[in-house]
Amino acid sequence: MRTQVGIVGAGPAGLMLSHLLHLHGIESVVLEARSQQYVEERIRAGVLEQGTADLLVETGVGERMKRDGMVHHGIELRFGGRAHRIDLSQLTGGSAVTIYAQHEVIKDLIAARLAAGGQIVFEAGDVSVHNFDSSAPTIQFRENGTATHKELTCDFIAGCDGFHGICRPTIPTDALTMYERTYPFAWLGILAEARPSSEELIYAYHDRGFALHSMRSPALTRLYLQCAPDEHSDNWPDRKIWDELQTRFATLDGWKLNQGPIVQKGITPMRSFVVEPMQFGSLFLAGDAAHIVPPTGAKGLNLAVADVRVLARALTDYYATGSRELLARYSEICLRRVWKVQRFSWWMTSMLHRFTDENAFDHRRQLAELDYVTTSRAASQSLAENYVGLPME
Ligand code: APR
Ligand code: PHB
Repeated sequence: MRTQVGIVGAGPAGLMLSHLLHLHGIESVVLEARSQQYVEERIRAGVLEQGTADLLVETGVGERMKRDGMVHHGIELRFGGRAHRIDLSQLTGGSAVTIYAQHEVIKDLIAARLAAGGQIVFEAGDVSVHNFDSSAPTIQFRENGTATHKELTCDFIAGCDGFHGICRPTIPTDALTMYERTYPFAWLGILAEARPSSEELIYAYHDRGFALHSMRSPALTRLYLQCAPDEHSDNWPDRKIWDELQTRFATLDGWKLNQGPIVQKGITPMRSFVVEPMQFGSLFLAGDAAHIVPPTGAKGLNLAVADVRVLARALTDYYATGSRELLARYSEICLRRVWKVQRFSWWMTSMLHRFTDENAFDHRRQLAELDYVTTSRAASQSLAENYVGLPME
């Protein structure tokens, strides 16, 4: 088998890259360890930056998002029993975010790739990458549970295989520097068949810890609670979850959380991670394979899409002109955005959670930060421009 760009992983990064390359006449093959059904049903993030939503529309995969996605012009920060709205659109000259589940984006991208004759190999076993210090790198894999090994020869490999993928660990460790921060908490997330209790997202800071009110549709609420890092969801019967959520979202004027059957429950770990550089020879890392952000800023999916925009542009330039200049600068261009998004995600996380090692000074400082960010136009504008997404370079 031969292709121009071999892509490992059919998450947002891999599928969007394949789609963008196709629109520029560049061929790719996507190799995905899981089944199509699995990736199309995997519950993940759900907030699209203005630029991500625009890209879906501009590249012809935004129809369902335009129909089913919910455009939000603001978010709420809640603390001290009071609600404070950040008017995203007013503070950014009209930008907004769109609430549309990541697995719906995945379905739309897979449908578009398959309709265009694109090749996605699902259930690819034992995927491994080779010779990426040469100009003819290869990917080896087993097709669909069979024992026969296949080899795909490419010009370039895109490692879009997420944080636990094989591409990053295959690069010699002395060629990479890793930057990492772990947090002393995780999120317990639920999906409930309940009407959202507010039209917008609510980020709540409470003495008992952080809570987030989000949604997936007018009938499905997505809720999160800060919990211990080693927490098991079995320790959280439904009653306890609802009581804790109601406590953390409570306001002085008696706000009520809508409840309903919990259809999904899970723990999300919190980590900040960056690898530098994001490339080695003809292997390019994109998305979670290269970096992880804690979910407080809702940036994981958007950052993955931003990476592959840069990579698609660099590859398009190479195939059109033969110039490797943009390819050589891939990592440098991506990392400027990556670090700004890391800073924002870390800042939102630090401002909104209780830390086990914090003292009374830290707590007071956090409350002052929330007060500042909800009363100063400059501070709320800074939050807003990061939340709707910084401009692409
Ligand atoms: N071989 C083939 N595929 C693999 C392998 C492997 N060895 N290891 C992992 N994969 C696949 C996973 O099954 C997954 O479908 O790679 C894909 C990686 O997708 P994501 O984890 O979604 O990562 P990415 O595309 O970078 O998107 C980042 O996804 O995890 C969320 O919150 C995160 O929103 C962010 C976004
Ligand atoms: C979600 O809806 O899953 C969600 C929303 C906002 C976040 C994180 C997750 O910051």
